[in-house]
Amino acid sequence: MIKSLSEFKQAKVQAEENPGGFWSEVAREFHWKSPWKQTLDYDFSIPEVKWFIGGKLNITENCLDRHLATQPNKTAILFEPNDPTGEVQRLTYKELHTRVCQTANMLRANGAKKGDRICIYMPMVPELAIAVLACARIGAIHSVVFAGFSATALAARINDASCSMLLTADGGFRGAKTIALKEIADEALNSCSTVNCCLVLQRTQQEVQWNFIDKWWHEELEKVDDNCSAEVMDSEDPLFILYTSGSTGKPKGMVHTCGGYMVYTAYTFKNVFQCQPNDVYWCTADIGWITGHSYIVYGPLANGSTTVMFEGVPSYPALDRFWEVCAKHKITHFYTAPTAIRALEKHPTSLVEKHDLSSLKVLGSVGEPINAEAWHWYDEHVGKHNCPIVDTWWQTETGGILISSLAGVTPQKPTFATLPLPGVQTVLLNNEGDEIEGEGEGILAIKHPWPSIARTIWGDHERYKNVYFSAYPGYYFPGDGALRDADGNYRITGRVDDVVIVSGHNLGTAPIENAINEHPEVVESAVVGFPHDIKGNALCAYVIVRDMGVDSISIEKEIREEVAKTIGPIAKPDRILIVSGLPKTRSGKIMRRILRKLAAGEYDQLGDISTLLNPEVVEEIKRQNS
Ligand code: WT7
Repeated sequence: MIKSLSEFKQAKVQAEENPGGFWSEVAREFHWKSPWKQTLDYDFSIPEVKWFIGGKLNITENCLDRHLATQPNKTAILFEPNDPTGEVQRLTYKELHTRVCQTANMLRANGAKKGDRICIYMPMVPELAIAVLACARIGAIHSVVFAGFSATALAARINDASCSMLLTADGGFRGAKTIALKEIADEALNSCSTVNCCLVLQRTQQEVQWNFIDKWWHEELEKVDDNCSAEVMDSEDPLFILYTSGSTGKPKGMVHTCGGYMVYTAYTFKNVFQCQPNDVYWCTADIGWITGHSYIVYGPLANGSTTVMFEGVPSYPALDRFWEVCAKHKITHFYTAPTAIRALEKHPTSLVEKHDLSSLKVLGSVGEPINAEAWHWYDEHVGKHNCPIVDTWWQTETGGILISSLAGVTPQKPTFATLPLPGVQTVLLNNEGDEIEGEGEGILAIKHPWPSIARTIWGDHERYKNVYFSAYPGYYFPGDGALRDADGNYRITGRVDDVVIVSGHNLGTAPIENAINEHPEVVESAVVGFPHDIKGNALCAYVIVRDMGVDSISIEKEIREEVAKTIGPIAKPDRILIVSGLPKTRSGKIMRRILRKLAAGEYDQLGDISTLLNPEVVEEIKRQNS
């Protein structure tokens, strides 16, 4: 573990001068079934990246078996249920190992094998983490789909990867509601022909329909034992697929591989959070997102830490739920999203103050830029000015944290993610693609691979190349803008493409537009983000309809329903404006920049609109807005 600023600086120099030597030193701490022959091979122009070439391993042996000799009885997963009076579960490393092995045998007994894709659509219960690890145990590629996604979104993801199995539950508890997961899964499976087995966990005990491919999880588990050899995986074999939105309608199935992902998530978890042996670490994300994969499951377990899984939501049964859980389990590390902080910040601080938060040592932020107000509120009311805050910048595509301070080790700076981690070679580019030296603002890019960079988009390597490696040849292009201060600290300024981050959820505007355009009355639409004081960004949809005389209230309602159905409720636009036209360039390209300014009410920053094909619609939109 990096323990001082000078060690950090030294690690950065080493990793930059000799990446292969640096990362092979880090990787040696793990259990490999056979060693790698070459540390790294890459070419961003193909693009191709390989780490620990020829190495053989199984990530679950590193997350589980390795700890059995040293700390079998330490809590691996601490589960806090949705209902505060419900049953807390503590799974020791030994118990987790047993349950993963048994579940892995259940998957094998139902036909799953190395290389198969298994879709996981489950609530935040221990069996979700167990299912993920069970797939990894047998070398099946997991594809977790967040349980808030709709049937259409689930089906698209199952079909894209031709999954042969689906793991789901009867239902899930979420605040005061129950979500009918099996019912949604059934609807999805109507349009999925590759799935031949659906294992159903009993969670809510609600009634479900039963199909011929369905089997009860608990019944299948009874048929198998807990002796399960770990599949031998090549370092570059896929470990999982995780979908993220892109700027076209189709989600991108980012592929992460075994060796590099393990090494990098473990290394970054250890150094960013500085977890000590008796600490209790809680990341509030869902395992359906990359944050949950890397920093609830793999990173903490690879380090032998205690990781908390929370089934519920911040507002149920009351708005002090996060702080209640922190006090109840004496949480030492709390990692959440700015949108959650902003939502809680609106309520009386007495909600925080009534709980004993003295166990907290480190706070974390992830998913979007954290504004100064939220940062200071977090620091003052949660951290009591006594906990370092790590603002961690990364993406689904990067697998692990790329820019962050190390808690208590390197300096923090409010609203800045600060410095790239060892081995992460960030640059700022201007619009021409030239590197900016020193202080400045521009496009963030990375000029050397780190071990957990996604290797491809499932089934579409060409798209992987186009999206990430073509805009600025020779660099990985994450799609974010950033500014850099004189000390080299980065502040992420937001997306530079058509992705909007709403309440920490990465949403492509194109798929939302496609969903809106499905409505028979809609001619064309454009969706943009605008600043929102809780969600960070909210969505505004500009919609052209066939007949301006239609009942706009009912169309708006139908559009929201359509979006919820095809993507999920999180993608429903906050504002829908029925307009007669969209501002376009003479070549017919929608001027999203202008729509963004209009949605934000920044009428004085529209720039020259006289070159538009139809400047009059700008005035119309302004009138509608007021
Ligand atoms: C996008 C990636 C990182 C895992 C969860 C989201 C934004 C993420 C930060 C941060 C400013 C951030 C970026 C990035 N983002 N973390 N600390 N400061 N922006 O993963 O859904 O793949 O989204 O989230 O815009 O590109 P994701």
